[in-house]
Amino acid sequence: MISVSELERTYRRPRTSLTGRRPEVAALRGVSFDIAKGERFGIVGESGSGKSTLVRLLAALDRPTAGTVSFDGRRVDDLPERELGFLRSRLQIVFQDPMGSLDPRMRVRDIISEPLGRSRDRYERVRELLDAVGLPGDSGERYPHQFSGGQRQRISLARALAPRPRVLVADEAVSALDVLVRKQILELVDELVQRYELTLVFVSHDLDVVRRVCDTVAVMRHGEIVELGAVAEVYDAPQHPYTRELIAAAPNLTAALSRLEEE
Ligand SMILES: Nc1ncnc2c1ncn2[C@@H]1O[C@H](COP(=O)(O)OP(=O)(O)O)[C@@H](O)[C@H]1O
Ligand SMILES: [Mg+2]
Repeated sequence: MISVSELERTYRRPRTSLTGRRPEVAALRGVSFDIAKGERFGIVGESGSGKSTLVRLLAALDRPTAGTVSFDGRRVDDLPERELGFLRSRLQIVFQDPMGSLDPRMRVRDIISEPLGRSRDRYERVRELLDAVGLPGDSGERYPHQFSGGQRQRISLARALAPRPRVLVADEAVSALDVLVRKQILELVDELVQRYELTLVFVSHDLDVVRRVCDTVAVMRHGEIVELGAVAEVYDAPQHPYTRELIAAAPNLTAALSRLEEE
């Protein structure tokens, strides 16, 4: 479904002195992997490790400095925007901050149906989608600020699903939510992936969250993938010292939930 090969993305920092050269930051270095149809591919790593840069390249929202990105066997990294229409509907992204990505002046029904254009049955589709993400049928009449953080993430998911994508990308999509809501949204993602037979790319700095929804995990550090494998294997027998460090240091959602239940 998705194939990336030897991806590199270098950013230039602003000049620090009049005579100095602009320093470069290698946000991604030599990243290669394949994601199969129906796979649930997790990407973990500390803040600044290059996860969002990688997501932007997968979605062709940004161009690599070197290397290739293919979607369904077709190169997308070198396509002009006007030829990327197919990718824009087939691959949808949900971000961390729904307030930043939902227009506060638009009704929820118009936010969700925006990718559908002006089709006559669009509000019918909105009701279907609201139901699929567990929101009340009349939510479409309201505005984003009238919802909680978790509900807003449900709205983002409904909008992402509107054009019937084949790949859903979540970039820190549950990171801003508190523990119980996070668990509910993860369960919803799991359900939606099954129901719509989606391929999932799930990005998080939180290892435990990735463990819950993914079957494969790539561990990133300083723009490189240091370990990649089945979730069960990587978490139970991490090969790379950095993965071991991450696992040892990770706050554990499962533990946090059971503490909450005890209280
Ligand atoms: N537009 C940009 N301009 C300059 N540097 C950037 C830009 N976007 C990201 N970076 C740098 O690239 C590195 C990776 O960032 P990012 O992909 O956002 O990491 P993550 O999502 O894992 O936190 C960081 O060092 C970040 O400062
Ligand atoms: Mg990021």
